[in-house]
Amino acid sequence: MHIIMLDSDTDFEGWRKAARRLALNDVKPSDVTWTVRGEAELFSPSGANDLPDAPHATFNVPATFVELARAAILHQSGERFALLYRLLWRLRGHHDLADDPDIAKANAMARAVYREMDRMIAQVRFREIGREKAHYVAWFEPEHHIVELAAPFFASRFSDMPWSILTPDVCAHWDGHAISITSGIDKSEVPSEDRLEETWRRHYSSLFNPARLKVTEAPQAYWRNLPEDSIIRPLLEDAMRMTSGAFIASKAAKPQAPQKPQDTPMARKHAHDTIATLRAEAADCRACPLWKDATQTVFGQGPQSATLMLVGEQPGDKEDLAGKPFVGPAGLMLDRALEEAGIGRTKVYITNAVKHFKFVPRGKIRLHQKPSTPEIRACRQWYERELAAIKPELVVALGATAAQGVLGKITPINKNRGRLIDHDGTKVLVTVHPSYLLRLPDEEAKAKEYQRFVDDLKIAASLLRRAAHAA
Ligand code: URA
Repeated sequence: MHIIMLDSDTDFEGWRKAARRLALNDVKPSDVTWTVRGEAELFSPSGANDLPDAPHATFNVPATFVELARAAILHQSGERFALLYRLLWRLRGHHDLADDPDIAKANAMARAVYREMDRMIAQVRFREIGREKAHYVAWFEPEHHIVELAAPFFASRFSDMPWSILTPDVCAHWDGHAISITSGIDKSEVPSEDRLEETWRRHYSSLFNPARLKVTEAPQAYWRNLPEDSIIRPLLEDAMRMTSGAFIASKAAKPQAPQKPQDTPMARKHAHDTIATLRAEAADCRACPLWKDATQTVFGQGPQSATLMLVGEQPGDKEDLAGKPFVGPAGLMLDRALEEAGIGRTKVYITNAVKHFKFVPRGKIRLHQKPSTPEIRACRQWYERELAAIKPELVVALGATAAQGVLGKITPINKNRGRLIDHDGTKVLVTVHPSYLLRLPDEEAKAKEYQRFVDDLKIAASLLRRAAHAA
């Protein structure tokens, strides 16, 4: 029997290394026991590291399995490591897993993890503590091991306030520069009332609309995490009195279906566009004067089936010559960040808000110039038609020009980054442009901002994973 001890409940890399070595050494799933450090000091582990390296043997598993395992491993079930190893074992034998009951279980686990992420994002409320230096603290009781997965989202969303999310399992902290993880705490150690609390309660009562409350989706067990929990019951009772208790079914406001990109007039008019036909059409674009000095139109690139669309500012010198977006220094940085966020560049459609290079010549150099609002507007038709052809799950706008092109108005990046924006039925995230990172003079600031950029892309990756699982 091999007893594998993982470093923590979320030690995906540890599981992956051990599982690979076990499988390469033909160790059957029934001969492995998985434990987590601190949980089973009773056993003395005989790790997969004791096994030979099996350097010549190899096998590949589909990227979709890796994604699935990465999410399912965060489930609270003690069975998850063994279940995923069983699946890996069968995959290695080239079994078709479509009807495998373990696949159904792993999928259900991954879905539960993503649902719990959604709940955490919706329910975490920070309270201000600290007299001299403000610190924001939230208490949350997650059902699965999602705190480390969710922390980059909160770091990006609340980047300018130091916060801690405390849970019984682990705690995540943000000091304005980096995330750190410490062990969990008991609820009795959490600060209770504060200045923010009252403000939040007032805000909640002014927003409260009984017609929109779906009691069945908000089990009472969850209310205990919310500052408004002490007022939900009285607000509900008031509403019940006013409506003779019949409000939930009869007064429910019919939510307006969000307009999907494929329903827009633009999408209907250009229903037969493909990226190839659009690229050919855009090659002769004369909608603004930028075409005169540029070498060529640099149209978007990537599969039409992409679920993620990245929008940059405009092609630079290298892109203008190559006819492809993001092939210069900013592109290299983007590639690295995408890889770190777990997003394959070849699966992404990458384009620019403005499709011609704008520059002024300085000797042998062509100096990049920021596109003007009329130039961004003139080019927007191409973005809209690309959007309608691709119908991505998510658009990520890189920098202010991209955000203006995508959202049709000037949108400050720092105030909006990391926040999911619904723009006419399209989900949009904004973040900084990789060239901004290249321009930062101070290495420390550069490393910090680069990490924030990767964290924003991780939010995109996690939204896409959730969308894929929901589908
Ligand atoms: N910067 C952009 O915004 N787009 C490119 O294609 C290259 C650099």
